[in-house]
Amino acid sequence: MRPLLIFGASRGVGLELARLECAAGRYVVAPVRRQSDVTALADTGAIVEHCDALSPTDVAGVMSRISGDFEIVSTLGGQARDGRRADDEGNINVIDAAVATGRVRRLLLVTSIGCGEMAPFRSARAIAAFGAAVDAKTRAEERLRATTLDWTILRPGGLVSEPATGRGLLLQGADVHGFIHRADVAQLASRALRDPDTIGHAYAAVDAQRIIPHQYP
Ligand SMILES: NC(=O)c1ccc[n+]([C@@H]2O[C@H](COP(=O)([O-])OP(=O)(O)OC[C@H]3O[C@@H](n4cnc5c(N)ncnc54)[C@H](OP(=O)(O)O)[C@@H]3O)[C@@H](O)[C@H]2O)c1
Repeated sequence: MRPLLIFGASRGVGLELARLECAAGRYVVAPVRRQSDVTALADTGAIVEHCDALSPTDVAGVMSRISGDFEIVSTLGGQARDGRRADDEGNINVIDAAVATGRVRRLLLVTSIGCGEMAPFRSARAIAAFGAAVDAKTRAEERLRATTLDWTILRPGGLVSEPATGRGLLLQGADVHGFIHRADVAQLASRALRDPDTIGHAYAAVDAQRIIPHQYP
Protein backbone atom coordinates (compact mmCIF):
# COMPACT_ATOMS: atom_id res chain seq x y z
CA MET A 1 0.00 0.00 0.00
CA ARG A 2 1.28 3.44 -0.92
CA PRO A 3 1.38 6.17 1.75
CA LEU A 4 -1.93 8.01 2.09
CA LEU A 5 -2.22 11.76 2.60
CA ILE A 6 -5.58 12.69 4.19
CA PHE A 7 -6.59 16.36 4.14
CA GLY A 8 -9.33 17.04 6.70
CA ALA A 9 -8.31 14.29 9.16
CA SER A 10 -8.65 16.41 12.31
CA ARG A 11 -12.28 15.27 12.65
CA GLY A 12 -15.29 13.66 11.03
CA VAL A 13 -14.94 11.49 7.95
CA GLY A 14 -11.22 12.24 7.57
CA LEU A 15 -10.48 11.19 11.16
CA GLU A 16 -12.51 7.97 10.77
CA LEU A 17 -10.59 7.21 7.57
CA ALA A 18 -7.25 7.80 9.32
CA ARG A 19 -8.35 5.29 11.98
CA LEU A 20 -9.26 2.67 9.36
CA GLU A 21 -6.19 3.11 7.19
CA CYS A 22 -3.72 3.15 10.10
CA ALA A 23 -5.40 0.02 11.50
CA ALA A 24 -4.93 -1.60 8.08
CA GLY A 25 -1.20 -0.91 8.37
CA ARG A 26 -1.03 2.01 5.96
CA TYR A 27 1.42 4.91 6.45
CA VAL A 28 -0.91 7.89 6.84
CA VAL A 29 0.09 11.56 6.80
CA ALA A 30 -2.49 14.03 8.09
CA PRO A 31 -1.91 17.70 7.26
CA VAL A 32 -3.90 19.88 9.67
CA ARG A 33 -4.07 23.55 10.59
CA ARG A 34 -1.83 24.70 13.40
CA GLN A 35 -4.87 25.50 15.58
CA SER A 36 -6.64 22.16 14.97
CA ASP A 37 -7.32 19.87 17.90
CA VAL A 38 -5.28 16.77 17.03
CA THR A 39 -5.89 14.76 20.23
CA ALA A 40 -8.00 12.09 18.51
CA LEU A 41 -5.90 12.11 15.35
CA ALA A 42 -2.64 11.54 17.24
CA ASP A 43 -4.15 8.36 18.72
CA THR A 44 -4.67 6.85 15.24
CA GLY A 45 -0.94 6.59 14.55
CA ALA A 46 -1.10 9.03 11.62
CA ILE A 47 1.82 11.41 11.12
CA VAL A 48 0.47 14.89 11.88
CA GLU A 49 1.86 17.79 9.80
CA HIS A 50 0.98 21.47 9.99
CA CYS A 51 -0.59 22.80 6.79
CA ASP A 52 -3.18 25.40 5.90
CA ALA A 53 -4.89 24.07 2.78
CA LEU A 54 -5.57 27.66 1.70
CA SER A 55 -1.80 28.09 1.28
CA PRO A 56 -0.47 26.51 -1.94
CA THR A 57 3.02 26.68 -0.42
CA ASP A 58 1.95 24.70 2.67
CA VAL A 59 0.18 22.09 0.54
CA ALA A 60 3.11 21.63 -1.86
CA GLY A 61 5.47 21.52 1.13
CA VAL A 62 3.62 18.63 2.78
CA MET A 63 3.68 16.66 -0.46
CA SER A 64 7.37 17.35 -1.03
CA ARG A 65 8.18 15.72 2.32
CA ILE A 66 6.66 12.37 1.28
CA SER A 67 9.06 10.14 -0.63
CA GLY A 68 7.91 8.07 -3.60
CA ASP A 69 4.39 7.66 -4.96
CA PHE A 70 1.42 8.29 -2.67
CA GLU A 71 -2.39 8.52 -2.69
CA ILE A 72 -4.63 11.35 -1.48
CA VAL A 73 -8.05 11.70 0.11
CA SER A 74 -9.51 15.12 0.82
CA THR A 75 -12.51 15.71 3.05
CA LEU A 76 -11.71 19.43 3.32
CA GLY A 77 -14.63 21.74 3.92
CA GLY A 78 -15.46 25.01 5.59
CA GLN A 79 -14.92 28.73 5.31
CA ALA A 80 -12.17 30.92 6.75
CA ARG A 81 -12.92 34.23 8.48
CA ASP A 82 -11.98 36.14 5.31
CA GLY A 83 -14.65 34.26 3.34
CA ARG A 84 -12.28 31.94 1.46
CA ARG A 85 -13.40 28.33 1.38
CA ALA A 86 -11.51 25.08 1.79
CA ASP A 87 -14.39 23.55 -0.22
CA ASP A 88 -13.05 25.02 -3.46
CA GLU A 89 -9.77 26.84 -2.86
CA GLY A 90 -8.31 24.32 -0.42
CA ASN A 91 -9.28 21.33 -2.51
CA ILE A 92 -8.04 22.98 -5.71
CA ASN A 93 -4.69 23.63 -4.03
CA VAL A 94 -4.52 19.93 -3.16
CA ILE A 95 -5.46 18.83 -6.68
CA ASP A 96 -3.01 21.20 -8.39
CA ALA A 97 -0.16 20.28 -6.04
CA ALA A 98 -0.88 16.56 -6.52
CA VAL A 99 -0.64 16.92 -10.30
CA ALA A 100 2.55 18.98 -9.97
CA THR A 101 4.33 16.24 -7.98
CA GLY A 102 3.94 13.69 -10.79
CA ARG A 103 3.89 11.10 -7.96
CA VAL A 104 0.13 10.89 -7.34
CA ARG A 105 -2.22 8.74 -9.43
CA ARG A 106 -5.11 8.13 -7.04
CA LEU A 107 -7.10 11.00 -5.52
CA LEU A 108 -10.45 10.57 -3.79
CA LEU A 109 -12.43 13.74 -3.08
CA VAL A 110 -15.29 13.86 -0.58
CA THR A 111 -17.77 16.60 -1.54
CA SER A 112 -21.55 16.55 -0.98
CA ILE A 113 -24.88 15.43 -2.31
CA GLY A 114 -26.11 18.28 -4.50
CA CYS A 115 -22.81 18.81 -6.34
CA GLY A 116 -22.43 18.75 -10.11
CA GLU A 117 -25.29 17.14 -12.03
CA MET A 118 -27.18 16.73 -8.73
CA ALA A 119 -27.69 20.54 -8.49
CA PRO A 120 -31.16 20.64 -10.12
CA PHE A 121 -32.46 18.24 -7.44
CA ARG A 122 -31.55 20.48 -4.48
CA SER A 123 -34.40 21.82 -2.37
CA ALA A 124 -34.78 25.56 -1.78
CA ARG A 125 -33.97 24.88 1.88
CA ALA A 126 -30.74 23.06 1.00
CA ILE A 127 -29.68 25.86 -1.36
CA ALA A 128 -30.31 28.48 1.34
CA ALA A 129 -28.50 26.48 4.03
CA PHE A 130 -25.41 25.22 2.18
CA GLY A 131 -25.75 26.13 -1.50
CA ALA A 132 -22.58 28.26 -1.51
CA ALA A 133 -20.52 25.44 0.04
CA VAL A 134 -21.92 22.89 -2.40
CA ASP A 135 -21.26 25.20 -5.39
CA ALA A 136 -17.69 25.64 -4.15
CA LYS A 137 -17.28 21.87 -3.87
CA THR A 138 -18.57 21.53 -7.43
CA ARG A 139 -15.75 23.83 -8.58
CA ALA A 140 -13.25 21.50 -6.91
CA GLU A 141 -14.90 18.48 -8.53
CA GLU A 142 -14.58 20.17 -11.92
CA ARG A 143 -10.88 20.85 -11.35
CA LEU A 144 -10.34 17.20 -10.43
CA ARG A 145 -12.30 15.86 -13.41
CA ALA A 146 -10.12 17.99 -15.72
CA THR A 147 -6.96 16.17 -14.55
CA THR A 148 -5.64 12.83 -15.77
CA LEU A 149 -5.49 11.52 -12.18
CA ASP A 150 -7.31 8.30 -11.21
CA TRP A 151 -10.02 10.20 -9.36
CA THR A 152 -13.14 9.17 -7.49
CA ILE A 153 -15.68 11.56 -5.97
CA LEU A 154 -17.87 10.60 -2.99
CA ARG A 155 -20.83 12.88 -2.26
CA PRO A 156 -22.23 12.08 1.19
CA GLY A 157 -25.76 12.93 2.22
CA GLY A 158 -26.46 14.54 5.61
CA LEU A 159 -23.71 13.40 7.99
CA VAL A 160 -24.36 11.79 11.37
CA SER A 161 -21.69 11.17 14.03
CA GLU A 162 -22.59 7.64 15.12
CA PRO A 163 -20.74 4.31 14.87
CA ALA A 164 -20.47 2.61 11.49
CA THR A 165 -23.46 0.54 10.40
CA GLY A 166 -21.94 -1.15 7.34
CA ARG A 167 -25.02 -0.01 5.41
CA GLY A 168 -23.27 2.69 3.37
CA LEU A 169 -24.08 2.62 -0.34
CA LEU A 170 -22.53 4.33 -3.36
CA LEU A 171 -25.26 5.36 -5.81
CA GLN A 172 -25.18 7.21 -9.12
CA GLY A 173 -28.66 8.73 -9.52
CA ALA A 174 -28.60 12.54 -9.73
CA ASP A 175 -31.69 12.82 -7.48
CA VAL A 176 -30.43 10.67 -4.56
CA HIS A 177 -31.01 12.17 -1.10
CA GLY A 178 -30.42 10.75 2.35
CA PHE A 179 -28.24 10.53 5.44
CA ILE A 180 -25.16 8.54 6.35
CA HIS A 181 -22.86 8.07 9.35
CA ARG A 182 -19.41 9.64 9.00
CA ALA A 183 -17.80 6.29 9.88
CA ASP A 184 -19.69 4.64 7.00
CA VAL A 185 -18.44 7.28 4.54
CA ALA A 186 -14.92 6.47 5.72
CA GLN A 187 -15.52 2.76 5.10
CA LEU A 188 -16.82 3.51 1.60
CA ALA A 189 -13.80 5.73 0.89
CA SER A 190 -11.40 3.07 2.11
CA ARG A 191 -13.04 0.47 -0.14
CA ALA A 192 -13.22 2.79 -3.14
CA LEU A 193 -9.49 3.52 -2.90
CA ARG A 194 -8.89 -0.19 -3.47
CA ASP A 195 -11.51 -0.62 -6.21
CA PRO A 196 -10.31 0.41 -9.69
CA ASP A 197 -13.92 0.25 -10.96
CA THR A 198 -14.64 3.47 -9.03
CA ILE A 199 -12.00 5.44 -10.98
CA GLY A 200 -13.54 8.27 -13.01
CA HIS A 201 -16.90 8.13 -11.21
CA ALA A 202 -18.83 10.36 -8.80
CA TYR A 203 -21.18 8.65 -6.32
CA ALA A 204 -23.72 9.77 -3.75
CA ALA A 205 -22.96 8.07 -0.40
CA VAL A 206 -26.02 7.23 1.70
CA ASP A 207 -27.20 4.75 4.32
CA ALA A 208 -29.31 2.03 2.67
CA GLN A 209 -31.94 2.54 5.39
CA ARG A 210 -31.91 6.35 5.22
CA ILE A 211 -32.46 7.10 1.54
CA ILE A 212 -35.05 9.86 1.07
CA PRO A 213 -37.14 9.69 -2.11
CA HIS A 214 -36.88 12.90 -4.15
CA GLN A 215 -40.02 15.08 -3.89
CA TYR A 216 -40.84 16.47 -7.32
CA PRO A 217 -42.56 19.88 -7.06
N1 LIG B 1 -22.25 18.22 7.55
C1 LIG B 1 -22.91 17.53 6.65
O1 LIG B 1 -24.04 17.07 6.87
C2 LIG B 1 -22.27 17.30 5.31
C3 LIG B 1 -23.04 16.74 4.29
C4 LIG B 1 -22.43 16.43 3.08
C5 LIG B 1 -21.08 16.68 2.89
N2 LIG B 1 -20.35 17.26 3.89
C6 LIG B 1 -18.91 17.46 3.62
O2 LIG B 1 -18.27 16.22 3.87
C7 LIG B 1 -16.91 16.45 4.27
C8 LIG B 1 -16.65 15.74 5.60
O3 LIG B 1 -17.49 16.35 6.58
P1 LIG B 1 -17.18 16.17 8.14
O4 LIG B 1 -18.36 16.79 8.83
O5 LIG B 1 -16.79 14.78 8.43
O6 LIG B 1 -15.87 17.03 8.32
P2 LIG B 1 -15.77 18.57 8.71
O7 LIG B 1 -16.09 18.69 10.15
O8 LIG B 1 -16.50 19.41 7.74
O9 LIG B 1 -14.19 18.73 8.54
C9 LIG B 1 -13.61 19.57 7.61
C10 LIG B 1 -12.12 19.38 7.71
O10 LIG B 1 -11.50 20.33 6.87
C11 LIG B 1 -10.43 20.92 7.62
N3 LIG B 1 -10.12 22.23 7.12
C12 LIG B 1 -10.95 23.26 6.86
N4 LIG B 1 -10.27 24.31 6.40
C13 LIG B 1 -8.97 23.94 6.37
C14 LIG B 1 -7.76 24.57 6.00
N5 LIG B 1 -7.76 25.83 5.53
N6 LIG B 1 -6.60 23.89 6.08
C15 LIG B 1 -6.58 22.62 6.53
N7 LIG B 1 -7.69 21.95 6.93
C16 LIG B 1 -8.86 22.61 6.84
C17 LIG B 1 -10.96 20.97 9.04
O11 LIG B 1 -9.89 21.17 9.92
P3 LIG B 1 -10.02 22.02 11.30
O12 LIG B 1 -10.16 20.99 12.36
O13 LIG B 1 -8.75 22.77 11.36
O14 LIG B 1 -11.22 22.92 11.19
C18 LIG B 1 -11.58 19.58 9.13
O15 LIG B 1 -10.60 18.61 9.37
C19 LIG B 1 -16.75 17.96 4.36
O16 LIG B 1 -16.17 18.42 3.16
C20 LIG B 1 -18.18 18.45 4.51
O17 LIG B 1 -18.33 19.78 4.03
C21 LIG B 1 -20.91 17.57 5.09
